[in-house]
Amino acid sequence: MTKHLKPARQPELLATAISLFLAVLMPGTSRADEAQVERGRYLVQIAGCSDCHTPGHFLGQPDTTRFLGGSDVGFEVPGVGIVYGPNLTPDPTGLGSWSTDEIVTAIRTGATPDGRGLIPVMPWPNLSALSDEDAYAIAAYLKSLEPVSNDVPGPVPPGDPAPSFVMRVVPPGG
Ligand code: HEC
Repeated sequence: MTKHLKPARQPELLATAISLFLAVLMPGTSRADEAQVERGRYLVQIAGCSDCHTPGHFLGQPDTTRFLGGSDVGFEVPGVGIVYGPNLTPDPTGLGSWSTDEIVTAIRTGATPDGRGLIPVMPWPNLSALSDEDAYAIAAYLKSLEPVSNDVPGPVPPGDPAPSFVMRVVPPGG
């Protein structure tokens, strides 16, 4: 014989079920996570990441609607070619498929998941001094950004034509 719950118990059970459900959902929006993202926002601002990773910055007009969405001005380094500051937003054309650890590793060591080393125009030798706490805060902040769809050109091998604006290092007398 099936035992039925007394009607009076049902609202109580429902409340428990809802609070359990919320407890599972809430960690993503906890205050600790918000503080980590805020710390990341602060560090990204003072480290000047936006200069090299936001379109328009080097043209005197950063496009704030595509913040950290990838630069349209490349760095041309003799013998190396041209690199553009990539899209750092969580879009498939940006860091969408990167894990938090992969972002932290790239920022602190220059090693990317595809095995390519970042040239030190990207200031990873300086950023290697970041503590775990700060490096993970930066990664958490980048993952919290609005995705921007923008696949930056390059890297362009030496001698190939520039697909967009370029800042060129000119040899003496050049
Ligand atoms: C002076 C310019 C400059 C600054 C400042 C800068 N970057 Fe970069 N960053 C670059 C360039 C250029 C590349 C690409 C280098 C290459 O392809 O070899 C890059 C690459 C990266 C990559 C690898 C992305 C990919 O798709 O390969 C990450 C992640 C990154 N930067 C994060 C940051 C963060 C976070 C900051 C601030 C803490 C920052 N960068 C500051 C220029 C800069």
